[in-house]
Formats: sequence, structure tokens, C-alpha cells
Amino acid sequence: MTVLASLLFSISFALVASAATDPGYNCRPGQKCWPSWDEWQHFNASIDGHLYETIPIAASCYKSSPHYDEAACQVVEGYYSNSIPRGTHYGQAYWLNWETCGDSGCALLEPNPAETLYGNCSLGRLASYYVDVRTTSHISAALQFATAHNIRISVKNTGHDFFGRSSVPNSLAIWTHNLDTLSFNPNFTAHNCASANGQNVGELGAGVVAGDAYRFFNSHGMDITGGYEQSVGLAGGFGQGGGVGSFTTTYGLMADNAVEFEVVTAGGQVRIINQCNDPELFWAMRGGGGGTFAVLTKYRVQVYPSLPIHVYTFTASFTGVGNHSNATQNVALREIMTAHAENQIGWSAQLVTGQVEYFPGAFTASLVLPYGDDGSKLRSATASFARFLSNRTDLSVTANGYASYANYAAYLTETAAPDAKVTEPAGIFSLLASRLIPRKVFAAPSTIDALVEGVLQGIATSRSFLNLTGTQVVLETPVSNLDRNQTASANPAWRDSLWHVIHVGEWVEPLKADVLQNTTDGFLQMLDPLKELSPGGGAYFNEAHYGEPDWQQTYFGSFYDRLLAVKSKYDPTHLFDCWKCVGWRGEQDPFYSCYREW
Ligand SMILES: Cc1cc2nc3c(=O)[nH]c(=O)nc-3n(C[C@H](O)[C@H](O)[C@H](O)COP(=O)(O)OP(=O)(O)OC[C@H]3O[C@@H](n4cnc5c(N)ncnc54)[C@H](O)[C@@H]3O)c2cc1C
Ligand SMILES: *[C@@H]1O[C@H](CO)[C@@H](O)[C@H](O)[C@H]1NC(C)=O
Ligand SMILES: *[C@@H]1O[C@H](CO)[C@@H](O)[C@H](O)[C@H]1NC(C)=O
Ligand SMILES: *[C@@H]1O[C@H](CO)[C@@H](O)[C@H](O)[C@H]1NC(C)=O
Ligand SMILES: *[C@@H]1O[C@H](CO)[C@@H](O)[C@H](O)[C@H]1NC(C)=O
Ligand SMILES: *[C@@H]1O[C@H](CO)[C@@H](O)[C@H](O)[C@H]1NC(C)=O
Ligand SMILES: *[C@@H]1O[C@H](CO)[C@@H](O)[C@H](O)[C@H]1NC(C)=O
Ligand SMILES: *[C@@H]1O[C@H](CO)[C@@H](O)[C@H](O)[C@H]1NC(C)=O
Ligand SMILES: *[C@@H]1O[C@H](CO)[C@@H](O)[C@H](O)[C@H]1NC(C)=O
Ligand SMILES: *[C@@H]1O[C@H](CO)[C@@H](O)[C@H](O)[C@H]1NC(C)=O
Repeated sequence: MTVLASLLFSISFALVASAATDPGYNCRPGQKCWPSWDEWQHFNASIDGHLYETIPIAASCYKSSPHYDEAACQVVEGYYSNSIPRGTHYGQAYWLNWETCGDSGCALLEPNPAETLYGNCSLGRLASYYVDVRTTSHISAALQFATAHNIRISVKNTGHDFFGRSSVPNSLAIWTHNLDTLSFNPNFTAHNCASANGQNVGELGAGVVAGDAYRFFNSHGMDITGGYEQSVGLAGGFGQGGGVGSFTTTYGLMADNAVEFEVVTAGGQVRIINQCNDPELFWAMRGGGGGTFAVLTKYRVQVYPSLPIHVYTFTASFTGVGNHSNATQNVALREIMTAHAENQIGWSAQLVTGQVEYFPGAFTASLVLPYGDDGSKLRSATASFARFLSNRTDLSVTANGYASYANYAAYLTETAAPDAKVTEPAGIFSLLASRLIPRKVFAAPSTIDALVEGVLQGIATSRSFLNLTGTQVVLETPVSNLDRNQTASANPAWRDSLWHVIHVGEWVEPLKADVLQNTTDGFLQMLDPLKELSPGGGAYFNEAHYGEPDWQQTYFGSFYDRLLAVKSKYDPTHLFDCWKCVGWRGEQDPFYSCYREW
């Protein structure tokens, strides 16, 4: 049935594409169509000298590279795993699987960066050239140049994407990282749209990273609906694909809070879009994904007076249980996850959010409530769970307690301190498999048991493939913003989900092709029990398995057709394209050949 559906899809897509004359945008370096050096220089001059040839960040560490330079290499080794300085360079991706391509790459071994991972330094999946964008006119010029020469475009902000959608080999990249302005408007006047006027609207340039946004808005006494990881770009893939974090339970997704965007559409036109102007495009860019409809340059979003952040933290390992033991046989793990699931409806009703991470040998719960009190509400909401955990004799407990922070910036300062290892290192390989779990699953003991069994099997299976695995149960779902009027286009599965379950696998050097294939297949298959519990449901495509076969339904649900209509209207020749994005050309397109090789 899946095969049939995708066949029908490609036939109808072919008809649409030929009517809209998609030229393919498939000119590659070395071909006659590829611009001459003079043409590139002329283009460079037209964008104030902001065109660059891509150099991978670790080129200075490869002896055979013309960029070999010991002193420069030491600097790269120093920041290699740190996503903030790493993200200030075009020539990288957060995850090496999306920076490299098969046996082509230019990476270092993260735990020992003095070691290089490839024979020679090559571009892997990185673009041939990139434009370090400073104004909308640079973007318009790049889109027109690409159109004139039939060149593939890619759009990149931080390079965090889990599907590699910001790294397209042989493309011309539009790199938005340096569009980094921030402003706060207590009284906001929307562009030609009185109904969108309002109070407390923040504006972010396309390249602003989350940590800078939290600190900036907190200095104005405001909170923004970002995520936890400080290096994620809020206005790029995050805010256009949904955007979940500590405030989602209270205020909705970041896309739900969007008020107005400045964008450059495929023809190079700059538009201010909101609920009155290009409303369908505005809707599509509120959850339908980055890299698909237009290039966003400014994101205007509702912000809220700062709230204190209250947190309950519990961290323990299971006594007498090996780190690689089979999770389905771990009684303590099963009982704790069951208690968690039994509490979930009550917690969600009180807007308690956070994450619980489960491993074969350990777990850590971080339950969070942004709320204007002294922490009493979180204590009472979590008291019975805390008692249940505190009373167990089969745990070796390393953290168990409540803390309160004056505001979100204070919370981040404390929890993201250099010695508190809260985020993943960058510069490694990763694979995700995820599913949104609907509310009704939590309503009966039998479905709770099936859910826990399904998650435990995933924990066990993922560890059977990789040594570095963990399963995050993310409680950050938009329970208080059901968006009944469908003002945003994020996957409708979000609206009745209470868990976003993510199985995470990581490794540090390239795997052999057959091992990788089996691991990738295994990670997809281990979602089967969760899919059985959520028929017609979906996954959050910013944090999902890139290989989902029924991807239109899984990532976009019932919004897919409406999103495709917007795509056809605003990008009829298909200048923008990314892996399993709305209107995707498909796996057979030669620019996706790396997904077959990795
Ligand atoms: C360590 C880590 C933690 C994360 N935590 C969270 C979390 O808590 N919550 C959450 O919701 N997600 C989280 N994510 C996932 C995150 O939302 C995605 O990786 C997202 O794609 C990142 O967007 P980016 O713009 O920073 O990345 P990029 O890889 O640069 O871009 C992602 C996509 O957006 C497109 N894009 C980027 N900029 C623009 C633009 N200006 N206009 C149009 N398209 C653009 C790109 O073409 C690409 O398709 C996390 C990711 C990582 C790596
Ligand atoms: C573009 O011009 C700038 C400024 O002169 C220069 O630094 C850069 O190397 C040029 N880019 C290319 C690809 O030649
Ligand atoms: C690296 O490049 C050199 C010179 O082009 C070539 O001789 C050598 O075989 C390459 N090595 C690998 C491992 O690809
Ligand atoms: C915002 O508008 C209100 C009235 O609508 C006014 O009282 C207030 O001073 C304005 N604030 C700023 C910062 O302009
Ligand atoms: C499990 O892994 C942790 C962290 O790597 C380590 O500290 C602990 O000793 C390991 N436990 C066992 C039983 O191997
Ligand atoms: C632990 O359980 C015992 C017996 O069920 C109970 O009396 C005690 O109060 C519990 N301790 C805590 C800290 O809740
Ligand atoms: C874990 O144990 C269960 C139950 O015995 C078994 O079905 C499953 O295959 C095991 N998983 C792994 C990865 O060994
Ligand atoms: C996992 O660790 C074992 C033991 O250290 C090692 O032999 C194996 O290669 C590792 N597997 C992967 C995928 O890294
Ligand atoms: C939804 O739309 C209706 C009709 O336009 C409107 O009356 C209502 O206020 C809207 N609801 C929300 C939550 O915006
Ligand atoms: C991959 O899976 C197949 C089928 O289960 C198995 O025969 C093969 O040995 C596996 N290969 C590796 C490298 O694990």
C-alpha cells in the first residue's frame, strides 16, 4: 500500500512538475553549464564580495589539503565538539553523517580530534559555494543567479538538521547565520494588517541562535518559545518546522506564536507576510518546514512576561543492572516508566513539562514548570512520583531534588554550565527514530503497558546496534494550544500528543556500509509497536527517522495537500527542495545520492 501511494504520488507530481516547467536545477561543477570563474566573480561583486568557496572546517588538519596549517588546526580541534563556535562556520554540520558522503569527508574523531577520519579532505555533502548573507538583496541575487544557471540551491542556518536538509552537495548555499539582529517591540504594528497588531512582539534575524535570544528577551523581562539547546537557530528549521521547548506546554509551539515574517520568495521578491498578506504562505511557513517555501530573513513572534522556572531533577542508575542489559527485562525501568506514563495526563493538565531520558542502565528525569509561584505547584503535581522514586531500594541515586530559577536565562546559566554535560557533543554521527504518542494511549492500563513495552523494546534494540544510545521522552507538547482554527501548519499529530518519544543513537567514526544499513533499518523497525498504538499519527520531522517510508502522512499528516498547494503557488519551478520536504523531488534525484551511500 505504501508503494502504491508513493507511485501515485510521483505520477501526479510529474504532471504538476512538467506544467510548471521545473528545469531540474541540476547543473554540477565540471559540466559545461557550470558558471565560469569570471561569472562567479561577477556574481561575487554583485553581492558585495560575500560569495565564498566552501572549505570544510577541518581542512587545516589534513596534510594533503592545500589549507593544511598546524596552528589553525589546533583551533579547530579545540572547538570541534562545541556546537556554538562550530556553528559560526559554513564548512560543517552538527552531525557528521550530514557533513560527509560515503567515504568522502573532512572530519576529525571527536573524542580525539588529533585523528582525521578520511584519507583526504573533500567536501562531502557541503555546497560548492556559499553566500554569507547580510541583506535580503544577497538572497535575491543568489536565487536569480541559480535560476539563470540552473544550479541547485541549499539554505543553511546552523547545520543542525537531522535529515541533512541544509547540506546539499554541488549546490550554491544561502547561509543565513550572520543575519543576527534581535529587537523587542512592546507595541507592535503589523504590516498592512491591523488584526495582527499586538503587544510584546520579538523580532529575530534568520541566524539568531537560541541562547542569544533567551538572554536578549530576558533582558527585556520576556520569555521566547525556543528549545533547550542554545546553539539551535530559532528562526530557521526550528521555528518553521514547529519548535518545541520548555514553554510549549504553556504557550504552544514556536510556530503557533509567529506573528509576521520577512521572506524572499523563489523569484527573488522580498515580502512581509502575515495573516493578511500572503496568508497561505504565512500558514505554510508556520510548521510546514524550512528550506521549502521561501527563504526567511526575519521572524516576528509573540513573547511573554518572564516566569520563574521550577525543576524537579532525579538521576539514578539501576543497581545490579549492566549498561548493555536488555531493557525489557529490567523490572525497575519498567515500573518507573509505567509510573511516568500513569502520571502523564495529570502532569499535562497542570502544564508540567520537561524530559525523561531512559537508558538500559540508568535514567534521568527533569520535570519543568514555568510558573509564577515559589515552586509549590510543581511540588504538589510531582509529589507522588517523587515519593515513588525516593522510596525505591533498587536505584543508586545521584540527584533528587527541586530547584527554582528567577527566569529562563538563569535556569540556562545554571544547567548549561560547562561542567554540566547537558547537550550532545557536535561532530559525531547520529540517528533518530521518533513517534508522537496520542493522549488516548495514556487513558487505559492496557495501552500504557503496550506503550511501555514498545519503548523498552526500542531501548533494547537500539543498544543492540550501537553503544551510545538513549531514549528521550519529551513532555513538551502543545497541550494548552490546540490551534483549533488551524492558524499554524505544524503536524496536526502534535495537538493531541502527550509524549514525543525519541530513540537516539550515536557513533564517532564512519560505520561500514552494511552495518549502517542494518542499524538504519533496525531503528525504523523498532518504531512499529509505537505506530500500532498511534494509527494515523505521526512524528516530529525536525527530530525523526529520515527513512520513514510513508513520510507525507508521518511528517505532515492531513496538512500535506494544502502545503503542497502553497508550494506549487510560491515555488512553481521547484527552486527549493529538501529531503522529504513538501513537494520533494524524490530519492532518485542525483543530488540525494549521498543518502544511499552516507
Ligand atoms: C542538539 C540539538 C538539540 C535540538 N533540540 C531541539 C528542541 O529542543 N526542540 C526542537 O523543536 N528541535 C530541536 N532540535 C531540532 C531542530 O529543530 C532542527 O535540527 C532544526 O532543523 C534546526 O534548524 P536550524 O535552522 O538551526 O538548522 P539548519 O540545519 O541550518 O536548517 C534546517 C532546515 O531549515 C532550513 N532553513 C534554515 N534557515 C532557513 C531560512 N532562513 N529560511 C528558510 N529555510 C531555512 C534549511 O534549509 C533546512 O531545511 C535540536 C537539534 C539539535 C542538533
Ligand atoms: C568574493 O569577494 C571577496 C572580497 O573580495 C573575496 O574575499 C572572496 O574570496 C571572493 N569569493 C570568491 C569565490 O572568489
Ligand atoms: C589523496 O589524494 C592524493 C593526491 O590527490 C592521492 O594520491 C591519494 O591516493 C589520495 N588518498 C586517498 C586515501 O584517497
Ligand atoms: C504602548 O501603547 C500603550 C497604549 O496603547 C501606551 O500606553 C504605551 O506607552 C506604549 N508603550 C510604548 C513602549 O510605546
Ligand atoms: C555504566 O556506564 C557508566 C557511565 O559510562 C559507568 O560509570 C558505570 O560504571 C557503568 N556501569 C557498569 C555496571 O558497567
Ligand atoms: C516509603 O514507603 C513507606 C511504606 O510504604 C512509607 O511509610 C514511607 O513514608 C515512604 N517514604 C517516603 C519518603 O515517601
Ligand atoms: C530482549 O528481551 C526480549 C524478551 O526476552 C526479547 O524478545 C528481545 O529480542 C531482546 N532484545 C534484544 C535486543 O536482545
Ligand atoms: C561497542 O563497544 C564494543 C566494546 O568496546 C566494541 O567492540 C564495538 O565495536 C562497539 N560498537 C560500535 C558500533 O561502536
Ligand atoms: C477561531 O475563529 C473564529 C471565527 O473566525 C473566532 O471567532 C475565534 O475567536 C477563533 N479562535 C481563536 C482561538 O483564535
Ligand atoms: C545485516 O542484517 C542481515 C539480515 O538480518 C544479516 O544477514 C547481516 O549479517 C547483517 N549484517 C551486519 C553487518 O550486521
